[in-house]
Amino acid sequence: MSDPSAERRAPRAARAADREPLPVKVLRHGSSADAARAVAQEVVALVAERPTAVLGLATGGTMVEIYAACVERAASEGVSFDRVRTFNLDEYVGPVAPERTFRAYMEEHFFGPFGIEPGPHAFPDAARAATDALGAARAYEDAIGRAGGIDLQLLGIGRNGHVAFNEPPASASSRTRVVELDAVTRADAGAAFGGVERVPARAITVGLATILEARRVRLVAFGASKAPAVERALLGPVTGTLPASLLRGHADVSFVLDAGAASGLG
Ligand code: GLP
Repeated sequence: MSDPSAERRAPRAARAADREPLPVKVLRHGSSADAARAVAQEVVALVAERPTAVLGLATGGTMVEIYAACVERAASEGVSFDRVRTFNLDEYVGPVAPERTFRAYMEEHFFGPFGIEPGPHAFPDAARAATDALGAARAYEDAIGRAGGIDLQLLGIGRNGHVAFNEPPASASSRTRVVELDAVTRADAGAAFGGVERVPARAITVGLATILEARRVRLVAFGASKAPAVERALLGPVTGTLPASLLRGHADVSFVLDAGAASGLG
C-alpha cells in the first residue's frame, strides 16, 4: 500500500539555494510496485482524456516496472494507446547490436505489449547522428515541436544525477545533441552489454531545455543506490553538476520514489 500522507515538498531551506527554485512534489511510496501503479494511473488517465497525448519516454530498469504497470492499467481500464505519440529521450550512437538499442528495449517493454508501432520520430536518429549530429538533433527537436510538445515526460535518474543522457556538467539550456557518456553511466550499462568496454561511448539525447518544455515531468527512482542522487537533486543546490536538480525550475514536476530512493530525504 502506498502512503498517501507521504506527499511532501522539498524543505523551504533547500529552495533558497542558488536561486529560488519552484517547489517539487515528492511522492514517496513503500514499494516500487506501488510507485509504478501510481505513475501508471496518471499516464493512463492522461491517455483516456487525450487519446493523442504526446508521451516522452525513458529507458532503464526503473521503467520496466512503470511500463508493465501502464500496460496492466490500460487493459483493466479499457484505454487504448493506439493513437498516442511518443518520443524517447535518447539512443546510443555507434555500433550497437540491434538487441541492445533503446528501440529494442521499447519494443519489448512498451510498443510490443501495447500492440502499437512506434511513430517515425519515436527515437532520435542515431544512424544519422553518427555522421550528421546537428541534422539529427535538429530533426528531433522539430518533430517534437510539430507534435505540439510533450504532454508528460517520464524520467529515470542516473547514479551521477543524469537525466536522459545529460551527463554532469549539464546546462539548463541544452537541446538535443550528441554527447560522450560518463564513466559512471558506462559502468552501470556494462552488465547489459557484457562488459563496460562494449558500452558505446556516445549517445544522442534530448537536452534539459527540451525536457523542461514538457508540460508535466515525472522522475521515477527506485532503490537505495539512487538515494544520494535523489537527495542532491532535491536538497542540494540547483546546479548542472547534478543535472536532475535543474528540474526544480519546472512548474509541474514530481519525483516518484520508493522507500530506498527516498532514504536520504529524512
Ligand atoms: C540510462 C538512461 C536514463 C535512465 C538511466 C537509469 O542512463 N539513458 O534515461 O534514467 O539509465 O536507469 P535505471 O532505471 O536502469 O537505473
